[in-house]
Amino acid sequence: MNKIAQIFDTLDYGAAPEAPDQAYAWLDSHDRQFGHFIAGEWTAPGKTFSSDNPATGQSLAQITDGTAEDVDAAVRAARAAFGSWSALSGYERAKYLYAIARAVQKHARLFAVLESLDNGKPIRESRDIDIPLVARHFYHHAGWAQHLAREFPDHVPYGVCGQIIPWNFPLLMLAWKIAPALAAGNTVVLKPAEFTSLTALLFAEICGRIGLPKGVVNIVTGQGETGAAITAHPGIDKIAFTGSTEVGKLIRAATSGTGKGLSLELGGKSPYIVFEDADIDSAIEGLVDAIWFNQGQVCCAGSRLLVQESIEERFLAKLKTRMKTLRVGDPLDKSVDIGAMIAPVQVERIRDLMQRGAAEGAVVYEPDNMTLPGAGCFLKPALVTNVSPANTLVAEEIFGPVLVAMSFRTPEEAVALANNTKYGLAATVWSENINLALDIAPKLKAGVVWINGTNNFDAAVGFGGYKESGFGREGGREGMVSYLKPRWEKDLKPLSSVELAPAQRSEQANPLDAAPLDRTAKMYIGGKQVRPDSAYTRAVVGSSGATVGEVGEGNRKDIRNAVEAARAALGWSSTAAHSRAQILYFLAENLDYRRAEFARRIEAQTGHDGAEEVALSVERLFAFAGCADKYDGAIHNPPSRAVAAAMVEPLGVLGIVAAPSRPLLGSVALLAPALAMGNTVVLVPSSVSPLSVTDLYQVIETSDVPSGVINIVTGDSVALAKTLAEHDGVDGLWFAGSAEASAMVEKTSVGNLKQTWTTRGLDYDLADRRFEGDYFLAKATQVKNVWIPYGA
Ligand code: NAI
Ligand code: MG
Repeated sequence: MNKIAQIFDTLDYGAAPEAPDQAYAWLDSHDRQFGHFIAGEWTAPGKTFSSDNPATGQSLAQITDGTAEDVDAAVRAARAAFGSWSALSGYERAKYLYAIARAVQKHARLFAVLESLDNGKPIRESRDIDIPLVARHFYHHAGWAQHLAREFPDHVPYGVCGQIIPWNFPLLMLAWKIAPALAAGNTVVLKPAEFTSLTALLFAEICGRIGLPKGVVNIVTGQGETGAAITAHPGIDKIAFTGSTEVGKLIRAATSGTGKGLSLELGGKSPYIVFEDADIDSAIEGLVDAIWFNQGQVCCAGSRLLVQESIEERFLAKLKTRMKTLRVGDPLDKSVDIGAMIAPVQVERIRDLMQRGAAEGAVVYEPDNMTLPGAGCFLKPALVTNVSPANTLVAEEIFGPVLVAMSFRTPEEAVALANNTKYGLAATVWSENINLALDIAPKLKAGVVWINGTNNFDAAVGFGGYKESGFGREGGREGMVSYLKPRWEKDLKPLSSVELAPAQRSEQANPLDAAPLDRTAKMYIGGKQVRPDSAYTRAVVGSSGATVGEVGEGNRKDIRNAVEAARAALGWSSTAAHSRAQILYFLAENLDYRRAEFARRIEAQTGHDGAEEVALSVERLFAFAGCADKYDGAIHNPPSRAVAAAMVEPLGVLGIVAAPSRPLLGSVALLAPALAMGNTVVLVPSSVSPLSVTDLYQVIETSDVPSGVINIVTGDSVALAKTLAEHDGVDGLWFAGSAEASAMVEKTSVGNLKQTWTTRGLDYDLADRRFEGDYFLAKATQVKNVWIPYGA
């Protein structure tokens, strides 16, 4: 009897290593050195660097550091392949994607072992999560390829996509990028991360073997500079990036003004919220997965534990006990939970951050019962307590096995703490009270919310961030749109400089002719007409050359006040869509009552009969009132006992800078979709003919629009656009104007990575009815996927 008890005490795991032979054999078949995969062929290795096994420090192979010429060759190959690839029927493309999925499944073990060797992640994860999800992505997107024309009518692929991916999920991130790009008919140039290129190279070989047309997939290896060469290449039509927020911002700046499409999936500091009524044991297991999956090197890692104060002590005690049972060691061992960190530089970085955090008062717990392997990049799991929200470890993305714990008292406090971050990638909520969980989920500013679960991923469900976690989605319908654009966009004609910036003739006018000062139209901020901060005004000169009115010259301070008012009015986003629709209808109706007056005002400013523009503006308000309660999301069906509700949410505060032409419609056509979707707005009307919008104040006031939902600042469009772009309280910015100013807007928006839409000097004729639906609704919104488990 004693013996049995003894056995339980001394019971331990035996070694259960996965054999690396097959992976080594494949590497050997390439003499352990690789060039790039361009136009379906291997190039000769160039200047190379080593790809190491982080668990041992040993070199696995030499890979080529791609030059700008290499990138150029790959882009040319992708361009050459684009015509015939995009012209294939959806069914033909689907068959290729299906063949890739089959081949990945067939060689799953080789892929998994190679991934674990090169990256250091436990074989349990590469075998059971990474590689099966890779296959799932290609299967799923084979379907989108086949149904493309029906599901996305009047859309075309971008062309050549440049794709730059990180090292934490090497093959999975490749699949997330390549599958939708190919399904949509694009060709790609992909650069894997410098630490983990090997499975991408194996994938390239698979593409060759299944007979994928040459040049459709090109893999160029290299480091940051190779990535920068892809970003800068003029032959690339769209950039898709996953990696650090820092590099994401560099890419945003580098692509500004180029017209390249851009999607960014960046860092995170995701909250993991545990309420006192949670199933604690499940929440602990979930947390182990949230923060120690892939050694914590996960963009959506649940790295900030927020636990309700009443259970904090008990929860943390249980967590510490559980941490002691985690096994750190050889990634190829099938019973290891935590493998190797990616590289010595990351281990250093994490140790540095921990020291800073500790110096700021953090208390670090690491299990004392584990010994780490002697060599290789290993770290113990760590739990950090005694931190204030300002602690480095709370604020910074650590990207390692380090959990930071804080407590909260009320649900409101939990939400406030959860959202107190520049990031917004994911969030987890644990509670047995589904009412509470579903109340919290919409309040979290994150692109993915998991209820009573964590790290759920699927090809059918969009993944991507809010705020500085980036924009664009990967997976599902919302991911497909990142690789498609409207067919008509390529036909847009540039506007002439006169159309873009009609002469400011105020200097020519006799200042004494100016309208008396009390007739100067004011700004409209927080539901009140206010004088501009500067005492300056600008004359509005009519088509006859005479001054027809004056408006305030808005400045930085006016924009600040307007943004503050718009933020304070964000309750608008949770107003029922039906109510928002009613208000838009009311605006339309009240504008219609005064159509003659508005038509005359347009004519006075532009010399054209204004009746048609007013009628169109009324119609546009009607159109978007009709959309407010219809543009909504799907319930996705991942292959698990969960549904994911794709909730369409507004961006938040939207800056809108209208073009000089079409004094009324130019503003209304942008304002209406923004409001319909629940954004609050800071609007800068046409700088030459602003009176049609300042005349709207009374219409707004008589239409039940809550204070602060619409704010109007008049003045120099470009200067005000710059201020809006720089403002971190602005979540999105639409700018109609010159190519040069559009580039400035995009570049200046990097501070908080606000989403932008600019016309780049092109003739977006807003009178066209193509603009009265999805086009702007999509740009006014972002999708949050809320995963809801079902079943007992
Ligand atoms: P990184 O953002 O530098 O690397 C990601 C990819 O971008 C790699 O392929 C790299 O070669 C490429 N790249 C680097 N500089 C570039 C440039 N100027 N232009 C174009 N491409 C460029 O990430 P890194 O340095 O490997 O990791 C540093 C930190 O970034 C991590 O500790 C972590 O906090 C964060 N990170 C976050 C990821 C996420 O998925 N959210 C993924 C990887 C890193
Ligand atoms: Mg490696």
